[in-house]
Amino acid sequence: MKPLVAALTKGRLTNDAINLFSRAGILSEGMKSALDALEKKSRRLIFSSADSDLRFFLAKASDVPTYVDYGAADVGVAGKDALMEGQRNLYEVLDLAFGACTMVVAGPEEERDHLKRGNNLRVATKYPHIALDYFVRRKQQTVEIIMLSGSVELAPITGLSDVIVDIVETGGTLRENGLTVLEEIAPISARLVINRASMKIERERIAGMIKQLKAALR
Ligand code: PRP
Repeated sequence: MKPLVAALTKGRLTNDAINLFSRAGILSEGMKSALDALEKKSRRLIFSSADSDLRFFLAKASDVPTYVDYGAADVGVAGKDALMEGQRNLYEVLDLAFGACTMVVAGPEEERDHLKRGNNLRVATKYPHIALDYFVRRKQQTVEIIMLSGSVELAPITGLSDVIVDIVETGGTLRENGLTVLEEIAPISARLVINRASMKIERERIAGMIKQLKAALR
């Protein structure tokens, strides 16, 4: 039988995802030992085992929805932020609860009024689609989006932007940089997503997996 392929997000969500699959009883003994490589800081990206009908690979957060959309993976575990930003046509079937954080507009406290009534705000972000959707469609404000790839909190401090759109988990990064949450956009957590064709072709196996994961979440 062809193994089902699962794309996991490399980084913060990896361990929680593996632990959940393990609690759900989805991992064979061979797969458990293959995944031990992760503990040893291995650079391996694909994990398979002769006794498993499931294969895992680790991809960058923003790439997981792409792998699942094209069918390179049948299922994926991705943050809601990556899914909202990726705008892919996937089945989002389960909220996995871990990786909880919030998508926010943040900046210096002095920007609060400007943000409420102002137009032409400069918004720095790793999430241009989410930011545009929020400001233009939901708030009908005109904004200039400045795309960055990390440490976005630097932007308002250095004068590159007025505010940022980013995820906040503990709030530590904002606090340590004199910034604050100004508006909340959406709650974020890890989700299980399924490729549309796989959902039909592999219906039974995928339904079984969803059932096991759901039971482990209770
Ligand atoms: C994320 C996010 C914030 C920070 C929030 O960045 O973009 O910068 O974490 O976490 P906190 O509220 O717990 O401080 P990440 O660490 O992924 O790095 P990056 O900025 O380089 O993308």
